[in-house]
Amino acid sequence: MGLRLDLDHVSSLTIASFIIPYICSTSVSFFVVFILAIFSELAHSSSQNAMHITAILGESVVFNCPVEFPGDHPVPYVLQWEKKGQDIPIFIWYENYPTHSGVGYEGRVSRVSPDSPYGLASLNLTNIKESDQGWYECNVVFLNRPPSSTNKNGTWFHLDVHAPPRFVVTPEEIIYVNLGDAIILNCQADGTPAPEIFWFKDEHPVDPSPTGTIGIFNEGTELRISSIRHEDIGDYTCIARNGEGQISHTARVIIAGAAVIMVPPMNQTKLEGEKLEFPCGAKALPGNVTILWSKDGQPVREVTSLETRLSIKRDGTLVINPVSGDDSGHYKCEVSNGIGDPQVASAFLNVEYPAKVTYTPTVQYLPFRLGGVVQCYIKANPPLQYVTWTKDKRLLEPYQTKDIIVMNNGSLLFTRVNQNHQGKYTCTPYNVQGTQGSSGHMEVLVRKPPTFTIEPQNVYQRKVGESVEMYCDAQEAEGTQKPKIEWQRKDGQQLPKNRVRIYSGNITIDSLRRTDFGYYQCVATNEVATIVATTQLVVEGTQPHAPYNITVNTTEFNAAVSWLPGYSGGPDYKQEYTLWYREVGTIADWSRVAVTPIGSTSIIINNLKPSTLYEFQIVGKNALGDGMLSKIVTAKTADPLNTSVRSVEPSKTATTNSFQSDAKAGPRPGPPRNVSIHEVDSGFLLTWAAPQERADLLKYYTILYRTDRDWRDLTKNTKLRADETKYIVKNMVGGRTYYFRVLAHSNSTYESSEEFKYFVPARVKQKAVTAGVVGGILFFIVAIILSICAVKICNKRKRRKQEKAYNMVACRITDARNGGQIPTVRQVPLNKLAESHTYRDFSLELAP
Ligand SMILES: *[C@@H]1O[C@H](CO)[C@@H](O)[C@H](O)[C@H]1NC(C)=O
Ligand SMILES: *[C@@H]1O[C@H](CO)[C@@H](O)[C@H](O)[C@H]1NC(C)=O
Ligand SMILES: *[C@@H]1O[C@H](CO)[C@@H](O)[C@H](O)[C@H]1NC(C)=O
Ligand SMILES: *[C@@H]1O[C@H](CO)[C@@H](O)[C@H](O)[C@H]1NC(C)=O
Ligand SMILES: *[C@@H]1O[C@H](CO)[C@@H](O)[C@H](O)[C@H]1NC(C)=O
Ligand SMILES: *[C@@H]1O[C@H](CO)[C@@H](O)[C@H](O)[C@H]1NC(C)=O
Ligand SMILES: *[C@@H]1O[C@H](CO)[C@@H](O)[C@H](O)[C@H]1NC(C)=O
Ligand SMILES: *[C@@H]1O[C@H](CO)[C@@H](O)[C@H](O)[C@H]1NC(C)=O
Ligand SMILES: *[C@@H]1O[C@H](CO)[C@@H](O)[C@H](O)[C@H]1NC(C)=O
Repeated sequence: MGLRLDLDHVSSLTIASFIIPYICSTSVSFFVVFILAIFSELAHSSSQNAMHITAILGESVVFNCPVEFPGDHPVPYVLQWEKKGQDIPIFIWYENYPTHSGVGYEGRVSRVSPDSPYGLASLNLTNIKESDQGWYECNVVFLNRPPSSTNKNGTWFHLDVHAPPRFVVTPEEIIYVNLGDAIILNCQADGTPAPEIFWFKDEHPVDPSPTGTIGIFNEGTELRISSIRHEDIGDYTCIARNGEGQISHTARVIIAGAAVIMVPPMNQTKLEGEKLEFPCGAKALPGNVTILWSKDGQPVREVTSLETRLSIKRDGTLVINPVSGDDSGHYKCEVSNGIGDPQVASAFLNVEYPAKVTYTPTVQYLPFRLGGVVQCYIKANPPLQYVTWTKDKRLLEPYQTKDIIVMNNGSLLFTRVNQNHQGKYTCTPYNVQGTQGSSGHMEVLVRKPPTFTIEPQNVYQRKVGESVEMYCDAQEAEGTQKPKIEWQRKDGQQLPKNRVRIYSGNITIDSLRRTDFGYYQCVATNEVATIVATTQLVVEGTQPHAPYNITVNTTEFNAAVSWLPGYSGGPDYKQEYTLWYREVGTIADWSRVAVTPIGSTSIIINNLKPSTLYEFQIVGKNALGDGMLSKIVTAKTADPLNTSVRSVEPSKTATTNSFQSDAKAGPRPGPPRNVSIHEVDSGFLLTWAAPQERADLLKYYTILYRTDRDWRDLTKNTKLRADETKYIVKNMVGGRTYYFRVLAHSNSTYESSEEFKYFVPARVKQKAVTAGVVGGILFFIVAIILSICAVKICNKRKRRKQEKAYNMVACRITDARNGGQIPTVRQVPLNKLAESHTYRDFSLELAP
């Protein structure tokens, strides 16, 4: 193109490009038109001055370029606009010729209408892109002039393209979190000038503290929370801003919630044919809930009978339309959004329908002279109410017929069949909903039942290791099928296959074992009847079988156990028993007690703990060895709190903790009598009466006590003089039961009183607690008491360390109970007691 001009004048333009914006205010960019109006004058006066124009992305701009005709006469001209950096003008216009648009400017450049206030060479650039930024030159070439005079440098424009911010990356609008999660919110925006990003949380600027869990990174584009706390939940807004505007995006950070069923299905009863809807509405965050329905544990989609009648609505509602009788069952919906455990709700669907006959056998047999049943196969919901029967088209009135009974399931029972019972029968079942009609005709034939031709003996007795053959055979009556013969164990256990041979009706069992002992049945079956012959197989020479039917009667401390003997192993064998027992829940070994006298099938166990669950097992033993253990039975000993009767151990016993002088025989005094105890100021006064018999043998007393199984020596090897019949017991713990025995000693042996039981009221303990509170208030007083105790009494007594420690506390309790006075000595002065020679006091050891 011959119209190209030299554009080499950048330096002056560059200068201009600094000056003009300096003159103009920055607000130029917003009002291009306004600016153009101002600067058109400049353009007129000096074509050398470049014009700076700011435009906004996507909008349009007019480069105002007036034409000054030579001599003010309009002459033909060519208008062309160049963009610096592009070889070819972006726009060429000449009269009525088609205009040319440069690459990238197609459809976006046009000459401004001559009627407009703009100059004739003005260019309208629309739909501005960022790439449009740069230098533009307006050139007008007058065609009929010599080139030199017309070759005028064009007017230069600099176009600045501004863009308001726009987001390129934003966080999800809803972010589901769990407390403690780490999250990153990413917000990136483009724009010219480059926008700044600001973060707000619920309208307040986010303040990233250096120590906090919230930080802002990567030029503000990333908000990071390292560990979500409750207070971090909220709306996070990122704002992108530049001179052209601002935009914002809000992300809602919320705690994810597992699905919760809001509308659970409820039990429903439907009539067959109706439509069922089971709702299962759930709420969840996020709300992408999946609902799984199952019927009796099987997914409904896999229940073939439901296939064509089932649908599940969008909201999870299960629809069955129409319901059928088989649809009754438990329906369960399981709802989950992937957070937490799925929620489950279930309901029972009860489909009711009139009673119906499900199956009609065309022929049924009744065994002549035996009992027999004519079956009516029925289904009914609600349950069957009654069944009517016809025989040979006439209503049968079983209630008036002696030998015929309608059973609960509707079938007809003939207690003794005779020929008259033969005929054509129908049954019609009814329930509350009515009936779906009668069965078809059933031909009932009376036939003779099969009979045994060979029956097994009543009893077979064999020794272990031997084999036994038991005979059995049966034959059919005329006109019926040959009966099938089977052998079974009566208890339902399997026959030992590898040791059993059956030839027609005869069974052989080889290598007999103890477990083969039992009852056996030969069962002969044909279409008319099933007949059974029973025999017992006794296997001798085995260890005893397990004892059975074990009963346990308990009191507080005792258990009376009795049982029935298992098979002893053969007539030549006697068995003796061992009882095993232990506390339930302990890992302790079983205690074993041999039952005496030998062969006895009951025993009494003593010295059990009250209110405790025990388990018991019996095992028999014969000359061949230990037999099988019985089943374990459990029994609880009586609760002392519920036992008003004072329980006394049988004195002839004690498998453990013997307190009787079995070893040392010899004459002994009678037992101390009337042991009793009652509370006194300083503790508990134990009293008793001297033995009535042989009191002359009495040398001294000792006292035993226990709170559990083990007896302890209350008097700690001190002998109470024979004339003492009182004793003060201290430090008994409230809420516990104590047992005492007073032993009357001769020189070599002793006799025990009956066991005396005493339940220390819990208030003793409560008093102590109350006293403790008082003691708390009167801290200093108690401190003094303690020190007095420690110094004056406790130290004085030469007791074992552990005992001493307990006494210090005990002193405080006892003394505080007595009104919080400051005692200088113990409540019961020792010297006084010693003087009286009637009683002594003693503290119990701290029970383990
Ligand atoms: C046009 O620009 C060139 C280069 O800057 C300059 O030498 C020339 O004088 C200018 N012509 C006119 C008519 O202004
Ligand atoms: C520029 O062109 C656009 C699109 O054709 C038009 O809407 C606008 O009015 C024109 N501007 C002027 C000043 O003619
Ligand atoms: C529901 O969406 C959450 C988060 O998008 C996802 O973890 C979960 O697996 C989805 N749950 C289901 C049942 O699709
Ligand atoms: C629904 O029916 C089942 C089964 O019959 C029953 O166990 C359950 O208690 C019933 N629930 C209600 C709310 O009636
Ligand atoms: C009805 O009950 C009797 C006795 O339990 C049983 O023998 C019979 O098979 C039952 N009949 C049907 C059809 O269930
Ligand atoms: C079964 O035992 C009986 C009695 O010994 C005998 O008569 C019969 O032939 C045996 N049957 C078979 C099939 O062995
Ligand atoms: C064994 O106990 C069961 C029920 O506990 C009882 O029915 C049965 O008669 C008892 N057997 C004997 C032989 O006492
Ligand atoms: C248990 O008590 C019942 C009824 O008092 C009695 O018949 C039975 O013989 C007792 N059993 C034992 C083992 O004492
Ligand atoms: C022992 O107690 C019984 C009954 O409470 C009473 O009759 C008897 O007199 C008492 N004996 C003595 C020695 O206290």
